[in-house]
Order: sequence, then structure tokens, then C-alpha cells
Amino acid sequence: MEKISDYLSKYKNHTFVTALTTAEYIDSLQSFEIRDSDIFLVTYPKSGTIWTQQIIISICELGGGLNKYLNNSHQMPWLEYKESHDDYFLRSSPRLFSSHLKPDLMPPGLKDKKAKIIYVMRNPKDILVSYYHFSTTFADLETPKSFDWCFEQYMKGNVLASSWFDHIREWHLVKDQYNILFLTYEDMLLDLKAAVTKICSFLGKNLSEEAIGQVVEKCTFRTMKKDPKANYEFLPKEWFSGSFMRKGQIGDWKNMFSAAQSERVDKMLQEKLGDLSLKLIWE
Ligand code: A3P
Repeated sequence: MEKISDYLSKYKNHTFVTALTTAEYIDSLQSFEIRDSDIFLVTYPKSGTIWTQQIIISICELGGGLNKYLNNSHQMPWLEYKESHDDYFLRSSPRLFSSHLKPDLMPPGLKDKKAKIIYVMRNPKDILVSYYHFSTTFADLETPKSFDWCFEQYMKGNVLASSWFDHIREWHLVKDQYNILFLTYEDMLLDLKAAVTKICSFLGKNLSEEAIGQVVEKCTFRTMKKDPKANYEFLPKEWFSGSFMRKGQIGDWKNMFSAAQSERVDKMLQEKLGDLSLKLIWE
């Protein structure tokens, strides 16, 4: 891996937290055996990963047959973090995984289109604000010198999981090769029940109205904040002193961005994603 800062390294055009994985481990994912029943959640960081984890886990729990783990991190570990939990081959199905990887680094078996992928996208401006706050409290990331500095790193892709624009582009370009459902954080926030229903249908889980209501209740910001399995407050404080459940809102970027920064993101959106038929309406 090529070091790009004291905290981050680049490998195959993707940026990793140096402390959490190795090039050898990332390469080993090319022979990672996929089961037809596997469910993957793929996101760019700060897009609502732990929220969608909670939704998928709650649906699978109520749908029956899920082997339970200590907390959501163990239940739905990040594929690319070497230190995660290495019992994947022993786990009973369905196995649940999270990942921030781009498609070329994912296990090729996913292209059989049997295992399922849920991809969640969020306004890149809100992501940056969320990432900025996250970096000030996460020991494995550099504390930003300022928001403006963080903005420049983000635009260059010198942040965890590299460029948001590349992540979105690369997944959309290959979407036909996968069994994939695209969701947005904003749609989930505006109508959580509709999002849960959509995910149930994609996962083939036929939940009753009452069960869907239970999932929705378990996945609201308010409930998750108090749920010790879901809120990640189980992480050691010296590693992570903030909260994954920060604000949970649409449009917080307006409190941090200058007009010029907002325009630069809009321009980059056009340059990098303008040719894709993507719904890029966030508010
Ligand atoms: P903010 O920092 O803007 O509040 P990730 O899990 O990918 O790291 O994303 C974290 C973001 O998702 C945080 O955004 C967090 O508040 C938000 N989030 C987590 N659970 C949520 C929920 N139940 N409803 C709405 N937003 C949620």
C-alpha cells in the first residue's frame, strides 16, 4: 500500500485506514467464496451505513433464521477490515456483510447475481460534513486542520474510501453485473417505511404490516441512539470518542459550506456523473 498520510494508504485506487487492513488481505478477497444467500451492504462512508445495517439485520431477524451476534458490527462486519471477525467460513447462512469497497475489489463471485447487494447513496455535501465531524473523534483518522482543509482532501479523494464521485460512478457503471438495489439516504429519511418495504421485497422477506412497523420503529434515529447493539457506543472510547448517531438530518452542509465550495461540488457532480442517468436530487 502507498502511504498518503500518517493515517491513510492507497491501494488499487482505493483509500484505506492504514491500521485496519493490508494489500494482501484486500487481494485475498478475490478468492473469497460467495454464497447465494449472502447479503452485502455497500456504501461510501457516512452515507447511512450503520442505519442500513440496522434495517437489514432487523428484517432478517424478523424474517427468521438469522444467527445472532453480539452487536451489529459482529453481525454485519466490514469485509475489508482485516481485524474484523475471521469466522466467515463457519457462519451459517444468511451471512451479512458491510463494505466501503469499489466494485473491482469486491469478491468476483458477486457477479453470479445471486448474492444481493444494497447500495446506499447520500448527498456528497452532507457526507463531507458528517466525515469532518467523524474524523475529529476517530483515532485512526487524521484530525482535520479545519473544515476547508477537509474539503480540499475530500475533493482530491484523499479521504477514507477515496473519491465519493468515483465510488458512485464505478458502482453505477457496472450495476448490470450485480443483483443490486440502489437507495438514497434522503429517500430513507423522508419515508422509512417505504424504504423498509423496498428492502424486504428485494431480500425476498415477506413481512407482515405489523413486522414492518416493528422494523421501522427499531430503525428510527431516536431508537437507534439508545440501542447498544446498533449505536456503536460499544467501540472503545480511546478509539472512537464521538457518536455515529450525530444529527441524522438532510442539509446540514448549509451550516458549513461556503457558496464557492457548494458550487465546486455541483460542478464536479456534473463533470463526473453528468453522463449517468442518476437522480441527483437531494432535497
Ligand atoms: P450525520 O453525521 O450527518 O448525523 P455511516 O453509518 O455511514 O457512518 O453514516 C453516519 C450518518 O448516518 C450520520 O450522519 C448519522 O447520524 C446517520 N444516521 C445513523 N442512523 C440514522 C438513522 N436511524 N436515521 C437517520 N440518520 C442516521
